Amino acid sequence: MNRPYIFINVAMTADGKIDTFERKGAAISSRRDKERVDELRASADAILVGGNTLRDENPKLTVKSAARQAERIKRGLSPNPIKVGIITLADFPPGGDFITAGGTRKVIFTTNRTSNETIETLQSLGVEVFVHDAPRVDLTLAMRMLKKIGVERLMVEGGATLNFEMLRLGLVDEVMLYIAPMIFGGANAPTLADGLGLTRDTAIHTQLVDVEKWDDGGVLLKYIIGRN
Ligand SMILES: NC(=O)c1ccc[n+]([C@@H]2O[C@H](COP(=O)([O-])OP(=O)(O)OC[C@H]3O[C@@H](n4cnc5c(N)ncnc54)[C@H](OP(=O)(O)O)[C@@H]3O)[C@@H](O)[C@H]2O)c1
Repeated sequence: MNRPYIFINVAMTADGKIDTFERKGAAISSRRDKERVDELRASADAILVGGNTLRDENPKLTVKSAARQAERIKRGLSPNPIKVGIITLADFPPGGDFITAGGTRKVIFTTNRTSNETIETLQSLGVEVFVHDAPRVDLTLAMRMLKKIGVERLMVEGGATLNFEMLRLGLVDEVMLYIAPMIFGGANAPTLADGLGLTRDTAIHTQLVDVEKWDDGGVLLKYIIGRN
């Protein structure tokens, strides 16, 4: 297998939105779901996010629980998984949480649209930068590289465009959805998978393997996807 085992995790509303039309990273997870996400993060070797999520939210992507961090250390791992960003033009603020929080390995896949100066700034902050000579990052190649640097289990934390591209390219093994009991609406609010979309003939088929109904009104769904 020349790529990691890859799973997407999202929190979405009953109408399939993963944020409001304002795109400010609206809170969707319940308290219990945040714990579940923390456990998932602790189980991953690396966590991947897309360019817009990186730019707009600059997420920490760290394991919050000290006990889970300690358990990782006991297993010979770093307290936090490797953070990975996919961004065409790496123009996100270098002083933000993605770079500074958690003291872990950071990897950015970008394109030749990112200036040498920005690449050098990122490298000086300890970020490993891979530059693809293409209009967009080659996700298949990026996944191969992650495997090469030791990532066996990769968690994808959005956003909508990256999720779609990963699914479209057959790079996803599992999708976990927490569906919160609320509706955001909005034609332009992001969903689980945006991008250009597929026709009915090319739809990705999923197999529902687990359903949990939670006391907080939410539902947890787990799908697996046939491996390409
Ligand atoms: N509820 C949740 O679980 C959750 C989790 C994460 C994010 N979100 C939400 O998702 C929204 C962001 O989603 P989004 O669709 O706007 O952006 P995104 O998926 O975070 O990032 C997409 C960007 O990734 C970069 N990219 C480079 N190569 C790519 C490739 N081959 N395939 C795909 N992307 C590539 C591009 O950056 P360039 O722009 O540089 O070209 C592209 O615009 C936010 O509102 C955020 O709050 C929700």
